[in-house]
Amino acid sequence: MSTTVIKNGTVVTADLTYEADVLIENGTITEIGKGLKGDKELDATGCYVMPGGIDPHTHLEMPFMGTYSSDDFESGTRAALAGGTTMVVDFALPNPGEGLFDALKRWDNKSTRANCDYSFHMAVTWWGEQVFNDMEKVVRERGINTFKHFLAYKGALMVNDDELYASFSRLAELGATPMVHAENGDVVAELSAKLLAEGNTGPEAHAYSRPPQVEGEATNRAIMIADMVGAPLYVVHVSCEESHEAVRRARMQGKRVWGEPLIQHLTLDESEYFNKDWDHAARRVMSPPFRNKMHQDSLWNGLQSGSLSVVATDHCAFTTEQKRYGVGDFTKIPNGTGGLEDRIPMLWTHGVGTGRLTPNEFVAVTSTNIAKILNCYPKKGAILVGADADILVLDPEKEKTITAASQQSAIDYNVFEGQHVKGLPRYVLTRGQVAVMDGEMRNEEGHGKFVAREPNAPVNRALSQWKDLTAPRPIERTGIPASGV
Ligand code: URP
Ligand code: ZN
Ligand code: ZN
Ligand code: ZN
Repeated sequence: MSTTVIKNGTVVTADLTYEADVLIENGTITEIGKGLKGDKELDATGCYVMPGGIDPHTHLEMPFMGTYSSDDFESGTRAALAGGTTMVVDFALPNPGEGLFDALKRWDNKSTRANCDYSFHMAVTWWGEQVFNDMEKVVRERGINTFKHFLAYKGALMVNDDELYASFSRLAELGATPMVHAENGDVVAELSAKLLAEGNTGPEAHAYSRPPQVEGEATNRAIMIADMVGAPLYVVHVSCEESHEAVRRARMQGKRVWGEPLIQHLTLDESEYFNKDWDHAARRVMSPPFRNKMHQDSLWNGLQSGSLSVVATDHCAFTTEQKRYGVGDFTKIPNGTGGLEDRIPMLWTHGVGTGRLTPNEFVAVTSTNIAKILNCYPKKGAILVGADADILVLDPEKEKTITAASQQSAIDYNVFEGQHVKGLPRYVLTRGQVAVMDGEMRNEEGHGKFVAREPNAPVNRALSQWKDLTAPRPIERTGIPASGV
């Protein structure tokens, strides 16, 4: 078996920065130190050697709003690698009434083409005995310990509070972690109908139909329900101060809650929806919508202070033609935007490049924090002996202007078109295999493997211990009065 050594770089992890070479053998890191030798040498002079990015929120070839998202596991993971992301976590979605394993079968089939490693979250799209029963096997046998609930998309993916409570309770029992898309779907449906009736049919009405309050309300609700059952909670795509405030407050109260802002919400604002070009605005329709600068500042502050934990993309790419299904009715514009190839360069440019984030904080929010939350650390998210050699060698001086013409994604535009970024991959390695070499793609279709994740992560164990200690118990009394009849 040949060895590869990454030489002369600066290793940057979530907690340390130091100069060292990294030796790789058989897909894993076998030595870190000075003066290492290998059969193949990759020169990292002037570069940072960091854990490859993990994007815990993608929708590849997802059936949604009458169509399928256009990036599949092949183009999606190719885009991921091009941008320094070496693992994605996609959502397996059961149809109404369908068992969890039937959905997983479909996702297994789609993911055989992945270029980098991947895992799945299971979505809970309906509730019943079969879901309750399947959950245990999904957790214990399939290595899936995260379950997503949509509080939005009424009449489609949305679950109600009784279902949410039942599902969260079951997950607490199994040592798994619930996730939520937190927007109040009932209110969104009411606002959407009103806007349409008043003649607001364009993409800008999408933003008006999902104000920050619907997100704040649903985030608070999910946090309280998770707390009642003793489950931790992961809130996807936190886009505004209202939901960030709920997450922040919960964390200050000792609740085990994590918030995930997206690179899109951090760097693009609501003015995109006021663009005179219908296509421009519709291409940026996603849920929650882009917000104003006050909300953006709140998200950056959260990353800096630690109240928000992970930057993701929610990559769910639709072509312009697909977006046009919603001409004349904004509720029919497929919701979703891309970002897999751009997350790392955009966050480095706007985070580290501005001094908002340190390089170590950057590694934490793009890789290490989520590896710990998902319970796959330090196999993923680490530069440590024994870890998978999923590595990003980032050249802080390399620059480009983002353009759809040169992207890996299958769609015909890019929501970051024209943005200048500084800080790009020199090399990207997926389990030791070089997938990106100085801008040239060397990915291998089908190389990606499923990453199984055990339940009962340290946080789940601690929370269940605490809940057990503080659970209601009858008081043993000495003097019980006779019943007063
Ligand atoms: O608009 C979005 N976010 N589309 C993808 C599905 C979801 O809500 O995460
Ligand atoms: Zn969502
Ligand atoms: Zn999503
Ligand atoms: Zn391979």
